[in-house]
Amino acid sequence: MIDGSLPSDAASSGPPGLLEVEHLGVSAGSRKILDDVTLSLPDRTVSAVLGPSGCGKTTFIRCLNRMVELSPALKIVGSVRLLGRDLYDREVDPALVRRRIGMVFQRPTVFPQSIFENAAFGLRLVHADEDEVDRSVMDALKRAGLWDEVHDDLDRSALALSGGQQQRLCIARALAVKPRVLLLDEPTSSLDPHGTQRIEATVRHLKEEIAVVIVTHNVGQAARISDRVAFFHAGRVVEVGATPDILERPREALTEQFITGRFT
Ligand SMILES: Nc1ncnc2c1ncn2[C@@H]1O[C@H](COP(=O)(O)OP(=O)(O)O)[C@@H](O)[C@H]1O
Ligand SMILES: [Mg+2]
Repeated sequence: MIDGSLPSDAASSGPPGLLEVEHLGVSAGSRKILDDVTLSLPDRTVSAVLGPSGCGKTTFIRCLNRMVELSPALKIVGSVRLLGRDLYDREVDPALVRRRIGMVFQRPTVFPQSIFENAAFGLRLVHADEDEVDRSVMDALKRAGLWDEVHDDLDRSALALSGGQQQRLCIARALAVKPRVLLLDEPTSSLDPHGTQRIEATVRHLKEEIAVVIVTHNVGQAARISDRVAFFHAGRVVEVGATPDILERPREALTEQFITGRFT
């Protein structure tokens, strides 16, 4: 194990099911937000979490890296395992979970600092040495598909970048600490078509190395970039499978209604 309480990357060449979610439930008082969600999320795969607004998509991915615990009113039951290790185990450090399972939000969350320092943020937190910071920032900016646009002036303010570039910078910030899983919560919802296309191209590359879980309510986006789709409705998984099976031959009426645009 490279970091004490979580299995290392060396153990990750095993069978599918990098992340295993079992009987996950989240409630706010008597109200169930997620109800008995069981899902297997494979390595080196883009998994789309698809469903209408309010069905629990954001809450679901926040459970995958324990971000959900930042909402103290929510009660969580069930288990989430990374390479067999229960992430909610008392001995597991939530900060470590959030590095191994990085997250990018709906709107770019850049800090009013340079491009370099934005990408280096997580590395600074773990006191990486300067050489490693330099190397990891460059590597992360390349993997995020941003390097060619910014490498000549990394000291420029991140706030001067376009929205799409800022979002790729947020992806680079998550990648810099070498996560095994990247969670993306509707990462293109605030972007124009060009910005969207660049993020989608980045996601397609990333799955060669890591698992990507992307929340979207956009059927077209799921079709373009995902290998698997889990369709959520009212806090439950209605069906899950290979993207063409779910989007072209859904078994459930609710899925069909959603993908044919009869409800959004
Ligand atoms: N911290 C919270 N406390 C109470 N209710 C919440 C909380 N977070 C989310 N919810 C509710 O859970 C439901 C699902 O929300 P969310 O996961 O954001 O859905 P989606 O991302 O699919 O739009 C919504 O009705 C929302 O109001
Ligand atoms: Mg959401």
